Amino acid sequence: MKAYRAAILYFTGPAQAVYEADGLLVVGPDAQGRQVAQAVGAYTQLAPRFAEVPIEHFPGRIIAPGFVDMHIHYPQLDVIGSPADGLLPWLENYTFPHEKRFSAPDYSAQVATFFIAELLRNGVTTALTFASSHPESVNALFAEAQKHQLCLMAGKVLMDQNAPDGVRDETGQSLIDTEALIRRWHGVDRLGYAITPRFVPSCSEAQLRGAGELAAQYPEVWIQSHVAENKDEIAWVRQLYPEARSYLSVYEAFGLLRPRAVYAHCIHLDDEDRALLRSTGTAAAVSPTSNLFLASGFFDYASADRAGFMYGLASDVGGGTSFSPFHTMLAAYYVGRQGQGKEGLSLKPQQLWWQHTAGAARALGLEGVVGNLQPGCEADFVVINPQATPLLARKTAQAASLDELLFALIVLGDDRLIEKTVISQAGSAG
Ligand code: GUN
Ligand code: FE
Repeated sequence: MKAYRAAILYFTGPAQAVYEADGLLVVGPDAQGRQVAQAVGAYTQLAPRFAEVPIEHFPGRIIAPGFVDMHIHYPQLDVIGSPADGLLPWLENYTFPHEKRFSAPDYSAQVATFFIAELLRNGVTTALTFASSHPESVNALFAEAQKHQLCLMAGKVLMDQNAPDGVRDETGQSLIDTEALIRRWHGVDRLGYAITPRFVPSCSEAQLRGAGELAAQYPEVWIQSHVAENKDEIAWVRQLYPEARSYLSVYEAFGLLRPRAVYAHCIHLDDEDRALLRSTGTAAAVSPTSNLFLASGFFDYASADRAGFMYGLASDVGGGTSFSPFHTMLAAYYVGRQGQGKEGLSLKPQQLWWQHTAGAARALGLEGVVGNLQPGCEADFVVINPQATPLLARKTAQAASLDELLFALIVLGDDRLIEKTVISQAGSAG
């Protein structure tokens, strides 16, 4: 067992944070040998109970759950900051040409190493990740994640139409490859497989049907895709499926809406779509820096909350502009204020933080497993230095409440705040 002393932030419920100004987090093995939080609370109360356990002290620092990124593309590391007139030209001019390179295992391995280091440097300890359409790219990413004992879900992109040579796959082989990758990687250490149809326009009916069949056969694996991101994309889907009630309903028809299915964006939905997300247990990955960068639109928080489906935050790198959860939370705040022109709301700091930790974990079907530090959780955490910059030191010293403190970190924070990222199964990782 090992204990960590610092200020500690964790969640007792949706958007309900607890802040122990002088706290203790005790980590040790559970019955299965996983390193989990054994206790969390005030140092003065817990220290006598764990008198034998060695304590590492981080004076002036905040321990918080590692962040959970619900949607990110590792082959788009170098696509960040590529300008385009919206989603479809961006895919054609930058993204697809770039993803071609991941047919080479060496190149995939080199980018995977950088990518995972960058996640950890930014305090992200769990991510649901797109690879490219090449199985080699999945192997490279999982191998690197396994080295760090990360909780990471990923999958080979399915895209057998409307894409150029070099990234387009072949229907039958793509499904054979997907099943082989599930069998090789799903449930190995902390890794999970995600069946990954890119989006409706890039998948034939046969490929979507095959993806749905695999999803039914392997209910424990994740599904990840994109939906209702961009007006031109939606018009394209309407042409392809004129009979469909909506874009989202195409995925429903192929059996691709269920718990552990995660759809990025979910911007241009109607209430019937939102009810469908809720009734099927499907989650949305809200990607505000990407949606602002590609001018895709604004996620409608008020309607989402009325409908009651699960959602959480995501970077969507490389449509997204930053790996930093602080940048993503701030962008989510800006978007909340826009409120689709009707109901501007100020998302509370605890709500934003929860959406990128325990709330995102819940949306992934991993509540009580990652994204929190309550007893029983796999104790991945970050050590935050609230004095990492002169302005942060000044601003956080003046915070008169937890919300003021968290909001100062969200507005002024970036990778400089993350002093250390600790992966529970592996010890210190950076
Ligand atoms: N829709 C289909 N593919 C992509 C992608 O790579 N990024 C984003 N943002 N949207 C997509
Ligand atoms: Fe995406």
